[in-house]
Amino acid sequence: MPTRRGRARGRALIRDILRMGDPRLLQPSARVEAFGTPALEALLEDLRDTMAARDGAGLAAPQIGVALQVVIFGGAPSARYPDAGEVPYTELVNPVLTPLSDEVEEGWEGCLSVPGFRGVVPRYLHLRYEGCDPRGQPLRREVSGFHARVVQHECDHLAGILYPMRMRDMARFGFTDILFPEAAAAED
Ligand code: NI
Repeated sequence: MPTRRGRARGRALIRDILRMGDPRLLQPSARVEAFGTPALEALLEDLRDTMAARDGAGLAAPQIGVALQVVIFGGAPSARYPDAGEVPYTELVNPVLTPLSDEVEEGWEGCLSVPGFRGVVPRYLHLRYEGCDPRGQPLRREVSGFHARVVQHECDHLAGILYPMRMRDMARFGFTDILFPEAAAAED
């Protein structure tokens, strides 16, 4: 794949992440219609490199200014999200989420588009997600807990929703280094 090697040699692949307040983060994203294209491969490569550089648990295409229904999440545990190691690295296109019960769990979240903050967000505990990978192969999983939380957070970005918009109690929103001083050394 000479194109991708050329990009890796010639240019930084780490993209700027849009921050809350940018109207592009509030727009719904369009479905991907063409799979296996160089443009889609390049988008995935930029998402991967940007998520790795920022030590994120997930990243959605609109966060780098691309209004397409593409998210990535999981992989190696990070300092920011030690639980992320439980979630396999996944590239998900055109996702559809279906809760499998009414059970909701509150948990702390952060977002690379809301740097320096954490908040407690209610999420469905069990859900099914369906979509496909960047080559158009169907992907369908039933997941729980942190895996389900990450998918809901990332897919919300595709609907123009940031996690503070899901919070029920703004008393549980604050600066990460104040809320979790012991983790501050590893923070952004
Ligand atoms: Ni986010």
